[in-house]
Order: sequence, then structure tokens, then C-alpha cells
Amino acid sequence: MSSKPRILVARKIFPEVIERLSQHFDVESNQDDVLWSDAELIERLKDKDGALTTGTQPINAALLAACPKLKIVSNMTVGYNNFDVAAMTAAGVLGTNTPDVLTETTADFGFALLMATARRVTESEHYLRAGKWTRWSYDMFAGAEVHGSTLGILGMGRIGQGIAKRGAHGFGMNVIYHNRSRLTPELEAECKASYVSKEELLAKADHLVLVLPYTPDSHHAIGAVELAQMQSTATLINIARGGIVDDKALAEALIERRIAGAGLDVFEGEPSVYPGLLQVPNVVLTPHIASATVKTRLKMSTLAADNLIAYLQGQAPITPVNQPLAR
Ligand code: DGY
Repeated sequence: MSSKPRILVARKIFPEVIERLSQHFDVESNQDDVLWSDAELIERLKDKDGALTTGTQPINAALLAACPKLKIVSNMTVGYNNFDVAAMTAAGVLGTNTPDVLTETTADFGFALLMATARRVTESEHYLRAGKWTRWSYDMFAGAEVHGSTLGILGMGRIGQGIAKRGAHGFGMNVIYHNRSRLTPELEAECKASYVSKEELLAKADHLVLVLPYTPDSHHAIGAVELAQMQSTATLINIARGGIVDDKALAEALIERRIAGAGLDVFEGEPSVYPGLLQVPNVVLTPHIASATVKTRLKMSTLAADNLIAYLQGQAPITPVNQPLAR
């Protein structure tokens, strides 16, 4: 029997990354991309030393108790709200994620969603495809200005800063942000961004982009109360995580035109989408693709593999999210 560490790759990924992992490990992979239940995941993971996950497999106390050999779970995502970090640390299991390699790509997409929402790109395309376009008119799909407007960013990590730079330097936007901690003066100058309270952010943003991590504290950070504080001409863009926005409250605000539009890449309970959101025209909906370019997804899965290889070979992980206690 091979003495190589045994790992599980929980979802389909690039064959070349599987190939690389196979040089170091006994790999069980899910190249058929079957969606396993939690029990099926545990069944496959219980004799493994490591796992490569995609952010949708919950790594919680029950799983950790059933997988005593597990040493590392390497997410190929920057967000790791599928990890119960405290339980992993206590169980002696390292978690890793894939920051940096997706920053610019995700910021690009945040901006794409902002522009599509402000300028009503998908709404007008649906109209055209439905054969409803018969003549030009002065107010047909008149949207909101992007250049020179006020860009609000909630959550000012690396991706938030990337969006700020695009807005400030590319589109002459006035950038304001709110975050748990304020940026250094140097970073604020680089992003041309001013720190404001959450209330001021909601009230002043013409386009509000959400880029904060999902935690119990950020659950429904944007709900009915916050939506009521926004301008009726404003747009809301969520490329962070479902659950940060109360989707039901948002659908109601959109139907009643209490805000002008929304661009959403993430949803509460995705891949299900709150039915009310599917009914409203003034929302751009995409299936969690903000980091989805071939190059970036390859970088993400390569970094996830590198974390597994380093840690299971006794070296320091590249991008750890915790410091596990001894197992
Ligand atoms: C992330 O990396 O957290 C993205 O949401 C990936 O899907």
C-alpha cells in the first residue's frame, strides 16, 4: 500500500491540478462533479489527510469528529464561511484559502455588474430579445450616471480597494467606504477613498458595492432598514456572499422602486434564488462568477493545491486562515 498522504478533491477542477496533486498524494477526486450530501462527503473524507474544497462543503464539528486523520482543508476560494474556524482550530485542522490571486479579476467583475446595473444592460437586452424595440425614445432605459458619481464600498479589503481604484482613477468617481477598520492614510490616498460611517455610506452612495466577508455579524447587513436609508436613484451591487443582503427585503425595495436597481452575483441559499428577485426587471443576476476567468480559476486551484502540498510535506502553508492546535 502507498505511503503517500491521502487527499480528497471534493469538486471537479482542472485536470492538470489533479495531475500535480497525484505526484504527491493518493488522490480521490470528484471529476464527475457529483454534488455529495454532507454524509457522503464525510464517508469519503474519513480516511483522508487533506481535502481540496470549493467553498460549498461545510467543514464543521460533526465532520471533523468523523474524520480523525484530517489535517488540512484547502478551499479554492478567498471566502471561507463554509469553515467553522474555531472547530477546525480546536480539532487541529488547518484551513487555507486563496486570497490575492483573484483580487483584480473579482474587482473587474464588481465593476462590470455595477455598470450593467447602472446602465440597465440586461434589462434592455431582454426587451430587445422579446421583440419590443420598435423605435428610439428619449427616456428608453435611461439609467444612472457612472462617471463622476459617488461610489460607496462596504468592506474595504483587497477586492474593495481594487474596485475603489477602478472607480476613482478610471471613472472619476468620488469614492467613500466603510469597513471594520480604517485604511492607512497611504492606502486611502492610493484608492482616493474617504472613510465614512455606515449611515453616511448608505445615504450618499449612488452605487453601493458590497465586498465584506460573511460572518454572523454581517448577516443581513443590508436589510429593509438599510435599503430605506439609500437614495431612490441608487444601485446596490453584491459580489460578496449571499446572506449579507436580505433578498426578500431587496426584492420588495426593487419592486417598489425604493432603489433604482441591483446587481447580484451571490444569493441567500444559492444556487436557489429568492423567487421575487426573478420577477423584477431592474436587477442583474449572475450565478456566482465574479472570479470566473480561466486564468484566475487556474491560479486559485493551483494555490489550493500548493497549500496542500506544502502543509502535508511538513512546510508552512502559504495562505492559512487559522493556527490549528496540535491534533
Ligand atoms: C471566493 O473566492 O470566495 C469566491 O466567491 C469564489 O467563488
